[in-house]
Amino acid sequence: MALVQTTLNIDEVLIEKAGIPKDILKGEVAVVTGGASNIGLGYSRSIAAAGGSVVIADFNAEAGAETERVINEENGRDCALFVKTDVTKQEDIDNLAAKALAKFGKVDILIHNAMNMRLNGPILSSTIDELDQSYAISARGAAMLIKAFVPGMIERKHGTVAYSATQFHYAPPMVGGTVYTAGKAAATSVVMSLANEVKQIGQDPAPGGFGGFGAPAPTENKSGVNVFCYCPAGVMRFDPSKMPPPPPSKPGEPEMPKIDFSAFKMTTPEENAAAMVFCIQNAKKLHGSGVIHNDVFEAMGYPFHEVKPVKVPGAPEYRHLTDQELTMVFCYMGDGFSK
Ligand SMILES: NC(=O)c1ccc[n+]([C@@H]2O[C@H](COP(=O)([O-])OP(=O)(O)OC[C@H]3O[C@@H](n4cnc5c(N)ncnc54)[C@H](O)[C@@H]3O)[C@@H](O)[C@H]2O)c1
Repeated sequence: MALVQTTLNIDEVLIEKAGIPKDILKGEVAVVTGGASNIGLGYSRSIAAAGGSVVIADFNAEAGAETERVINEENGRDCALFVKTDVTKQEDIDNLAAKALAKFGKVDILIHNAMNMRLNGPILSSTIDELDQSYAISARGAAMLIKAFVPGMIERKHGTVAYSATQFHYAPPMVGGTVYTAGKAAATSVVMSLANEVKQIGQDPAPGGFGGFGAPAPTENKSGVNVFCYCPAGVMRFDPSKMPPPPPSKPGEPEMPKIDFSAFKMTTPEENAAAMVFCIQNAKKLHGSGVIHNDVFEAMGYPFHEVKPVKVPGAPEYRHLTDQELTMVFCYMGDGFSK
């Protein structure tokens, strides 16, 4: 199908190509923060293409209004609403919730995806204000959004909360984005802890109340609200063979490892968005999990192409890497007591 004419950087939505039924989210209403560009734009368009309605919460008013127009035209129905939102501001979250409920009556899916990717400096050369901003968008934003939308989901025993996380809980030495990873790790903690909080709903309290050491953890999530983190990686439209070489090492510094990027296919927003819809479809199974894009593509049967892990010299051979393994491989953490 021809793409709608737009200034937005979009490609064909891949819901059908991924084998996802195109009405799988019929009747569902999603809020997508940072939903007006790149990955979030992919999520917004793909949710609508899968039959849902979407509220685009972004602080970029121009891109947000255009996203609303494009989605409504692509789907031939009034299924998109843009609400200018800065996720660091409580009044904006309140306004978002009021507008979303006024238009669609409920919110079933919350995807916290907004981030300022420029807040990506090393801690030694960044300001504390930059660190505060990173926490404010990711962790504080997640907490405010959860408080605005999850009580309604709990009441209706129906909902999905997803966070666009990263597998880098520590900044890799070749990237140095401590301010970014610290914010992302804090938000991951908020979201994954919510997974445990909702699991206690509808369970018999242990003697002494929940939270006591020794109390058995509930095994089943009876709340109807499922929570998970999805980690995109390397999402952009560009040719990795044209990537510039790494900067030369400074005197006394170890050589940068030579990474074989030819083995690593960059992924597109539309591919990651199809993966997100697949995760929403499987949210009950994924409750409390953090999943990386290549594991999701594998579970989907690689509808687009196989995403191979980057081969880092000296790192163990993994078929694919789990969340923690990826962080460890890239970040060359210490050996602990092992040596
Ligand atoms: N791009 C990747 O490869 C990658 C990898 C791992 C994780 N992620 C995560 O995925 C998410 C999206 O990444 P992206 O590459 O699409 O980012 P992007 O910078 O292209 O888009 C981010 C969007 O968030 C919006 N935004 C920023 N601050 C906001 C705020 N305070 N309130 C509301 N909206 C705000 C921006 O306007 C923009 O539309 C981020 O959370 C990022 O950390 C991205």
